[in-house]
Amino acid sequence: MIVATVPDRSDLGQALAGELDATHVELSAKRFPDGEAHVRFEETVEGTAVVVSDLRPDARVVEAMIACDAAREAGADEAVIAAPYLAYARQDQAFEPGEGVSARALLRGLSANADALATVDPHTATVLDHFEGPAAAATAAPEIAGALADADVDVVLAPDEGARDRAGEVASHLGCPHDHLEKRRRSAREVEIEPHGLDVTGERVLLVDDIVATGGTMATATSQLLDAGAEEVLLAATHGIFAEGALKRLRDAGAGRILATDAIEGEVSQLSVAPALARATRRARSG
Ligand code: R5P
Repeated sequence: MIVATVPDRSDLGQALAGELDATHVELSAKRFPDGEAHVRFEETVEGTAVVVSDLRPDARVVEAMIACDAAREAGADEAVIAAPYLAYARQDQAFEPGEGVSARALLRGLSANADALATVDPHTATVLDHFEGPAAAATAAPEIAGALADADVDVVLAPDEGARDRAGEVASHLGCPHDHLEKRRRSAREVEIEPHGLDVTGERVLLVDDIVATGGTMATATSQLLDAGAEEVLLAATHGIFAEGALKRLRDAGAGRILATDAIEGEVSQLSVAPALARATRRARSG
């Protein structure tokens, strides 16, 4: 088995290859003068090629598809997409008449090129049903909990009911209780959050979510919890997009430590997503 990455994801590729006891290779990835992607394996491949694929920005999706095709041209029997972050998973239904179901469109497109798909903490588990082949996810909850083992967390909270199970998994590793807040989304940037009758007075609260995008969810929850008497609010997410000044918004809201994995690389992505991506890859291949 080989794990292939574009050059700027070499660190993740090497870590994933280490977890899978595989060989890491760097792809040659270039752009033609017209902007179109060119992807090439520089060596022949035998067996399975695991193609580590960032699916954002959108140009990376095309690159991932071409990389799977290139893997077979180079001799691979199968191509597995290992996507640390499954982009578009939040648009998993038509919320307004006439909207595209973006997650379905993306996963069908990937299915046409990859034999299997592995990812970490997708927004919902059911979104993987749109991939027409074996697809599996794993959670980074053990790694998130491990990184916060010395943080004396009293309670783990999810900012909405949809993230309650994620909070529960982190809490079970930390050996503390968990619960969720009630969230109502007003727009892409604004949410309302209610504390759901919780007493957090004097507590060190860890908020856990799958994605931080604009930070609106976590910032609103942080302010509410601090207003309600929490001693400190720490934040952890698998996928730190941190769009539109989100980190500043979170710090301004009073957040303490902010932690994310390197599923999306950035200022606070201090945790490797490789162990979780390896678990997902093994599952996808055995499924
Ligand atoms: C939505 O349900 C997700 O789990 C996250 O809560 C959401 O994507 C966060 O977005 P933002 O940071 O823009 O509030």
